[in-house]
Amino acid sequence: MITFFDYQAPADLLKGRRILVTGAGRGIGAAAALAYAAHGAEVLLLGRTLAHLQRTAETIAAAGHGLPECLEHDLLTAGTAGCQALAERIGGHLDGVLHNASLIGPRLPIAQLPGDAFAEVMQANVNGTFLLTQALLPLLERAPADASVIFTSSSVGRQGRAEWGAYAVSKFATEGLMQTLADELAGSPLRANSINPGGTRTDMRAQAYPAEDPARNPAPWEIMPVYLYLMGPGSVGVNGQALNARA
Ligand SMILES: NC(=O)c1ccc[n+]([C@@H]2O[C@H](COP(=O)([O-])OP(=O)(O)OC[C@H]3O[C@@H](n4cnc5c(N)ncnc54)[C@H](OP(=O)(O)O)[C@@H]3O)[C@@H](O)[C@H]2O)c1
Repeated sequence: MITFFDYQAPADLLKGRRILVTGAGRGIGAAAALAYAAHGAEVLLLGRTLAHLQRTAETIAAAGHGLPECLEHDLLTAGTAGCQALAERIGGHLDGVLHNASLIGPRLPIAQLPGDAFAEVMQANVNGTFLLTQALLPLLERAPADASVIFTSSSVGRQGRAEWGAYAVSKFATEGLMQTLADELAGSPLRANSINPGGTRTDMRAQAYPAEDPARNPAPWEIMPVYLYLMGPGSVGVNGQALNARA
């Protein structure tokens, strides 16, 4: 697997590009939205809590990159019609989508994992992401040049691990969705890849490892090189790959 921890993005990497980031209200998604805006993109912030998105939007605006549009959208409940309505609201074209939003669900052995908790994680992380991808593909196909779709995986989406329950299964499915889409996109100006961020200092990490010293892990802004690389035109031709944000 390739790592891009040291990639140095040109300041104008994403100039003129229109990029949607899911789960942009907190954690890695908020950092990615800021990084994309700082490299010239118009970013659209999607998430389930409008107040979180607005906080990210204000940070981006305060840094001098314009005020992004906030799109309230719950991956758990949106369904096909909700995703189609969202695509119509966005309109025009997209040059990139970062699928970053996820639920972690309970950390329990398979034998004890409640079926409804399993279904909820799969609904948000897999079904909701699939429906959103499907609705946004026509916008990505209208991109004037290349376009990039990035899915977010995890170490446990590449090697199963005890008590990671539905989350691990959902991340394997995310890799499958990415690979299937990438194969369908082969030869087109669109590409699809996945990133495993690795342990990163966010609310989700704290939920998964409450006893851990948060300083052990990098902050979200520190893992942005691979997010920039895959979103920028320098990664044209990279398709169907599972990348790591760090060694
Ligand atoms: N942090 C890590 O160590 C780590 C490691 C491996 C992989 N990852 C992956 O990296 C991605 C980002 O993780 P993170 O640590 O930044 O997570 P986080 O701090 O928990 O943030 C998750 C984001 O996803 C949004 N979200 C959750 N459920 C949603 C739903 N049903 N509909 C729409 N948005 C929803 C949240 O929105 P609200 O703000 O509205 O709650 C939040 O903005 C995830 O895919 C995660 O699996 C993280």
